[in-house]
Amino acid sequence: MNKILLSGIKPTGEPHLGNYLGALKNWVALQTSYRTIYSIVDLHALTINITPEELEHGTFDLAVDLLALGIDPKRSILFKQSDVVGHTELAWIFSCLTPVSELERMTQYKDMAKEKRGTSNAGLFNYPILQAADILLYKAEYVPVGEDQLQHLELSRVIARKFNQRYKQFFTEIKPVLSETVRVMSLHDPNKKMSKSLGPKSYIALRDKPDIVRQKIAKAVTDSLEGDTTLGGGHNLLTLFKNFGPSQRYEEFERQHALKKLSYAELKRELAEALIAFLAPIQERQAYFEKHPAEVQGYLAQGAKRAQAIADKTLEEVRKIIGLS
Ligand code: AMP
Ligand code: TRP
Repeated sequence: MNKILLSGIKPTGEPHLGNYLGALKNWVALQTSYRTIYSIVDLHALTINITPEELEHGTFDLAVDLLALGIDPKRSILFKQSDVVGHTELAWIFSCLTPVSELERMTQYKDMAKEKRGTSNAGLFNYPILQAADILLYKAEYVPVGEDQLQHLELSRVIARKFNQRYKQFFTEIKPVLSETVRVMSLHDPNKKMSKSLGPKSYIALRDKPDIVRQKIAKAVTDSLEGDTTLGGGHNLLTLFKNFGPSQRYEEFERQHALKKLSYAELKRELAEALIAFLAPIQERQAYFEKHPAEVQGYLAQGAKRAQAIADKTLEEVRKIIGLS
């Protein structure tokens, strides 16, 4: 129960089922087995074009969503990254240990840079250094994330090792914690992962109302019966059903799929209803927290205070180790 587990999520749009199955479900479940620290990483959000209003509202809405999902502020430290002094300072120290060549290898950066064609900013490049600081500032050992973050976590391990080699053994090795479903694909384009940046057609948001869920699932792309049934949209829908539908029914669908006799219309109808049933109680709790903004802000303030106490201690030790004290 003394092991520290930490993760972060960007307040850059509504959380969706990819975030939930890849990471947030674990965030909630692991609260009983670890000392859990969860951060809304608003400084990371600055790497993309985001207006001050979007950032402020996005941060509040995300806090609401996390509380509605079952993050318990009495058990977990839930805080906003920018409320704690020290993340950027440790990131600077780490940036002086990180080879540029390591950052250049990051696929998330390469994808972004390609998309932005020459207008990419230095924050996007340094992004994984700040992420390493988020984790190591709390000396966290376990980090629950989706598959797309594994490369960033590997870099965090490299940075910790560089620090330990250059100065002294101080940071422990971090370990990624993966969920059962590490990668949920887009409903619209099953070759890409479900993502906020692909637009609402690609995902089911935790906030989507029943009619929207039905529409989005009805329009989801499925594979042809002749096509590769292991990777396509149909397989993605089956994975969603596995997570949210009754298991016996899932097994029937799976069998029909293997025999290429699955009716996607039927699967979609039942999947939409299963999702609606899953989302209903979450949305009820969202509505409660929306009506009690002071309570939400209070949890974040309390979380920041608890996080700051840990961060201060680590940073003080780090400063001493590297000769800044
Ligand atoms: P982000 O919204 O990019 O801050 O991601 C928050 C968490 O959700 C990270 O741990 C991601 O790895 C995870 N995640 C995001 N999209 C997906 C997806 N399509 N499938 C599985 N996990 C995901
Ligand atoms: N980069 C992560 C993402 O895009 C978010 C993140 C920031 C994070 N800091 C972190 C995840 C620390 C785990 C630990 O999803």
